[in-house]
Amino acid sequence: MLPKLALTREGSTELFVPAESLRAKDPKTFPAFFNPAARVNRDVSVAVARATRPATFLDALAGTGARGVRIAKEASESAKVTLVEFNATSLAIARKNAKRNGVYSRCEMVHEESNAYLHSRFGRLERFEAVDVDPFGTPAPYMQGALTAADDGALVSITATDTATLCGVYPTVALRRYGARVVKSEFAHEAAIRVLLGFCARVGGVVDIGVEPVAAHSTLHYLRVYFRVARGAAKSDRALGNVGHVASCVACHRVTVTADPIKACAECGGKARCIGPQWVGNLVDEKLVAEAAKDCSRQGWTGAAGALGALEGVDAFPPFGYSMEAITSREGVSSVRFQSVVELLRSSGRSAMRQPFGSSGLKTDAPYSEVLSSVRQSARG
Ligand SMILES: C[S@@+](CC[C@H](N)C(=O)[O-])C[C@H]1O[C@@H](n2cnc3c(N)ncnc32)[C@H](O)[C@@H]1O
Ligand SMILES: [Zn+2]
Repeated sequence: MLPKLALTREGSTELFVPAESLRAKDPKTFPAFFNPAARVNRDVSVAVARATRPATFLDALAGTGARGVRIAKEASESAKVTLVEFNATSLAIARKNAKRNGVYSRCEMVHEESNAYLHSRFGRLERFEAVDVDPFGTPAPYMQGALTAADDGALVSITATDTATLCGVYPTVALRRYGARVVKSEFAHEAAIRVLLGFCARVGGVVDIGVEPVAAHSTLHYLRVYFRVARGAAKSDRALGNVGHVASCVACHRVTVTADPIKACAECGGKARCIGPQWVGNLVDEKLVAEAAKDCSRQGWTGAAGALGALEGVDAFPPFGYSMEAITSREGVSSVRFQSVVELLRSSGRSAMRQPFGSSGLKTDAPYSEVLSSVRQSARG
């Protein structure tokens, strides 16, 4: 039996969802799941699908079908969407949603365990042009299956809600789950996204698949990464060339990218704290992201437009950043104006931008010593 349902709307799609999920702060996972707060996650998905026009889309953990049905309704008039879900109640609601929106004939509803379905594509030709993995918690157990089910050139999108683990709060868990050493840092959310992408690239290595990041965002409690699949051993090797480590010195706060983990800072000999393996290469397909961001703005999807718009220019910077809060607290000064630090750095010939993956962060090509002088100067001014 279905729980009491309410009708809600996202984009041009009407969705039946468990009524209590619209009121609860933390929507229940049982008897069926829907999280209205994940709307930005789905808005970005729809905009990216509109920009890439996949003919086939796999919603591998479909829940009540919000994402898959939106893709079928809003991304294209011909896309075939497969929705996989092992909770029969959620899948029944997803079916109702597909019918409500007139896209049932293009939606295949699969009542199956997700990994069994994903791996069932192994060695077969029926693969997908887009694969989305949106689990509760870590996506790690689904990664190889997701890559296996993705066609060459397909776009894979992954949600991780184990954000604290990836941000360095639970290093033991991160090591076990992602095979990566993590520590807390001034650029925790960027590091989290990069550790996740590094993991995707290494799992890709297992099945001779390369990953090419297209977009990423850190919103509310979750992280999202989008990457293209490039099949073939050489492409996988090329992707793995973008996997390295980021080391922060506890003494002089210098941050560097290294091929292997290091123990001591090359500048001052202080203790280095390393995060990695992680993706230290580019994160963004600028053209695609600009198009999707513009689309989101046109639709009035401000959260999604903001998340995508914030990525502009990010690849011109090193794969880390600095926290204004951390620096001002170390310096014992009250907060400084972010813009004044940026202007000071720019006036000395450096580039700087707001950290797209965290609230008070700064990205710059200037070394820490120059960031510090700019903060000190701003604090005086
Ligand atoms: C976070 S929810 C998906 C939400 C959905 N993508 C949306 O945007 O509304 C995760 C879903 O995966 C389902 N699930 C969890 N583990 C699964 C598995 N191993 N196989 C199939 N479905 C699974 C859960 O029942 C739940 O509905
Ligand atoms: Zn140092």
